[in-house]
Amino acid sequence: MLKDPSQKYRPFAPVHLPDRQWPNRVLTCAPLWCSVDLRDGNQALAVPMNISQKLELFQTLVKCGFKEIEVGFPSASNTEFSFNRRLIEENRAPGDVWLQALVQAREDLIERTFESLVGAKKAIIHLYNSTSPAQRRVVFGMSKEEIVRVAVRGATWIQERLPRLKGTEVMLQYSPESFSATEVEFTKEVSEAVMEVWKPTPQRKMILNLPDTVEVAMPNVYADQIEWICRNIRDRDSLIISLHTHNDRCTGVAATELGLLAGADRVEGTIFGNGERTGNLDIVTVALNLYMHGIDPKLDFSDLTAMLEVYERCTGMTVPPRQPYAGELVFTAFSGSHQDAIKKGLTEWERGGRQHWDVPYLTIDPTDIGREYREVIRVNSQSGKGGVAYLLESEFGIELPKEMQREFGPIANDEVDRLGREVSGAELKAMFWREYIERTAPWQLRGFETESRNGIVRCRARLLRDDQPIEFSGEGNGPLAALVHGFSTAGVPRFEITHYSEHALSSGEEAAAIAYIQVKHSDGRTRWGAGVDTNIELASVKAVLSALNRS
Ligand code: KIV
Ligand code: ZN
Repeated sequence: MLKDPSQKYRPFAPVHLPDRQWPNRVLTCAPLWCSVDLRDGNQALAVPMNISQKLELFQTLVKCGFKEIEVGFPSASNTEFSFNRRLIEENRAPGDVWLQALVQAREDLIERTFESLVGAKKAIIHLYNSTSPAQRRVVFGMSKEEIVRVAVRGATWIQERLPRLKGTEVMLQYSPESFSATEVEFTKEVSEAVMEVWKPTPQRKMILNLPDTVEVAMPNVYADQIEWICRNIRDRDSLIISLHTHNDRCTGVAATELGLLAGADRVEGTIFGNGERTGNLDIVTVALNLYMHGIDPKLDFSDLTAMLEVYERCTGMTVPPRQPYAGELVFTAFSGSHQDAIKKGLTEWERGGRQHWDVPYLTIDPTDIGREYREVIRVNSQSGKGGVAYLLESEFGIELPKEMQREFGPIANDEVDRLGREVSGAELKAMFWREYIERTAPWQLRGFETESRNGIVRCRARLLRDDQPIEFSGEGNGPLAALVHGFSTAGVPRFEITHYSEHALSSGEEAAAIAYIQVKHSDGRTRWGAGVDTNIELASVKAVLSALNRS
């Protein structure tokens, strides 16, 4: 890297807009959405989608609620053309969905694009040409006037062919490509020249799409550019101002959100942000960002996992684990303090009484988008006892008493540390079983019977001690008190029971009860034990033996 980057790179000249209005606004409703997955997204794939993959993704986008879908660049290849034809001839697009076709300002390509759209119910014809100084100089070697002429010619060729699409409701769209790197005054000039040809009205608007083709500045600069156009272009009320951001500086979402504040009506993007280089704007993120503020995004991501599965299969791309909302780890907390706070937040939420979601660390309820609480917490060596307890409870209905969590948490963490990886809920349960339930030495239960008379419970315990049979009787005001008494008559050092609780295990192979016991020895040491049995009395006896076996 250069010691002095200013030798090679220069700052971006901001738009002069001292009375900008967008910073004082808030978003209150969803924009119009247009998915460009099948065009911008597709053209950025190492192996572009075949027709059946495009069809499947198209269906998924429709199901999600997209009403405008850029289906391709029909004049660019036979696959693109045939795909468009199949959508139309096989009647695959619902009546309220616009099929958008991109085309450059070339007559032969415009001709072919029209052929591809014959019979469509609703079609958006999307004309673009590049307008920035670098594109004018390097790519086209054209002056501003020549660039305007290209746009006007393209617009005219489209205008002349409109009668060919009888029976099709047509909307026209113009994109001054590389808008964000173009002088705003020139964007106005070229766009108004196109408007002069298409003559949009408030009743028959055209879409003016203003692409951040390559992010060249901070998102506030893009917002200023959008507000400048909204305020200075003629016949604003005859236009649908559309945003189309890419992600070169990793602020595609921010640029879009600020662009909406700046007055835009419509957003183009892709699901999960696929697209050239660093990708297009991720529509899922912008839509769910609105959702988390209580605004209906008008797109349905109730089963985001299924959508992601279709996307990955069709495009061959993968969604990174930290991708907002969709990533595998988004609803996973590794840190103990996060786990603890989430657990408390979820408990409060489940108890009801709060109108609005306010669970620490979780921006939205994962279940709203088809994710499960079960995915929320995994345990690694950094996890605290809260995470361990949460997982045992949420996955297996094992509700460890608070103090027992303090004992088992470090035991589990040591084991996870030794394994050097995160563990699943099932592994955690197996650790718990090994530590408490499956201990059979020195004490093992062979039989336990009780009888009660006049409030006194008498027990008869048949046990193995280091594999040797031992029997004793005891009495007390309950089965456990009788058992403790019996142990003392058999010469076992005195101990008392300082905690007892039990609950049914929700389901599964145990279909049983689990009992938790804490014993306190005469020297002050305490130990926890747990026992499982279909008979709750036997579960509690096993829990006592478990605590003794761990002493
Ligand atoms: O990024 C871009 O500028 C485009 C245009 C064709 C709209 O994809
Ligand atoms: Zn693009």
